[in-house]
Amino acid sequence: MNDGGQRRYGPLGRALVIIPTYNEAENIKPIVSRVRSAVPDVDILVADDNSPDGTGKIADEISAEDGRVHVLHRKGKEGLGAAYLAGFRWGLEHGYGVLVEMDADGSHQPEELPRLLTALKGADLVLGSRWVPGGRIVNWPKSREYISRGGSLYSRVLLDVPIRDVTGGYRAFRSETLAGLGLDDVASAGYCFQVDLARRAVAAGFHVVEVPITFVERERGDSKMSKDILVEALWRVTAWGVGARAGRLLGKRPAGPSSPPSS
Ligand code: GDD
Ligand code: MN
Repeated sequence: MNDGGQRRYGPLGRALVIIPTYNEAENIKPIVSRVRSAVPDVDILVADDNSPDGTGKIADEISAEDGRVHVLHRKGKEGLGAAYLAGFRWGLEHGYGVLVEMDADGSHQPEELPRLLTALKGADLVLGSRWVPGGRIVNWPKSREYISRGGSLYSRVLLDVPIRDVTGGYRAFRSETLAGLGLDDVASAGYCFQVDLARRAVAAGFHVVEVPITFVERERGDSKMSKDILVEALWRVTAWGVGARAGRLLGKRPAGPSSPPSS
């Protein structure tokens, strides 16, 4: 993280809130209308993976009534990461200056979005954070809290990222930040996508700011968290951490008697 205080930030452009959905039929209308009332001047992109419960069709109906709601229909369930990558691409192509990640189930409260956007005026990336002072969780089972806190701690230590909530999914990016993350080679499919983007932002020297949020567990529908998603996160984070350490060790070997004379 560089010192954002030294930098001048350009004005925020038009904002697009990207909402990935898989089987969120009961949640999609409420979340869109909450975003609408909380931040009337943003556009919304629903990135639906051909949900069997008809979420995509409901999103189309909302879009027909509200020209600032767009729908990206994807062919099948490919994970949160792939849905966001497609959403970011769409947003960058359409000239948005700010791209927001938000879950469909109400866990990320749209009413808190103005605080994220205000913080983005002086940052490259803003993370809604459960694990900074003022951050809270409501109705989350202890088991999920341990996994999330443990995952954040493991990632922070192994990847050297000074971020408390590395796995969170309520975020606001400047378009320039996204363009600087090398999204073309992101392979993370599940929730470790969030860790991947955070570590890339830190490595690229972007100014990352955490803003406390209250994360409210969903009341309708089911979480898509699974053992596969956990396993992917564990092996990828471990591989990134080990890879970076190995690279530093090799790259940093000081010149000495055993070094080749002219290298
Ligand atoms: N298009 C698409 N495709 N959307 C998906 C997929 C997918 O394969 N998997 C999940 N989603 C959508 C859900 O429909 C929801 O809108 C959002 O992604 C988050 O999924 P949840 O299943 O509600 O996540 P969670 O509550 O268990 O996990 C939360 O915490 C994680 C750990 O901190 C989220 O905030 C995650 O982003 C976060 O990584
Ligand atoms: Mn959720």
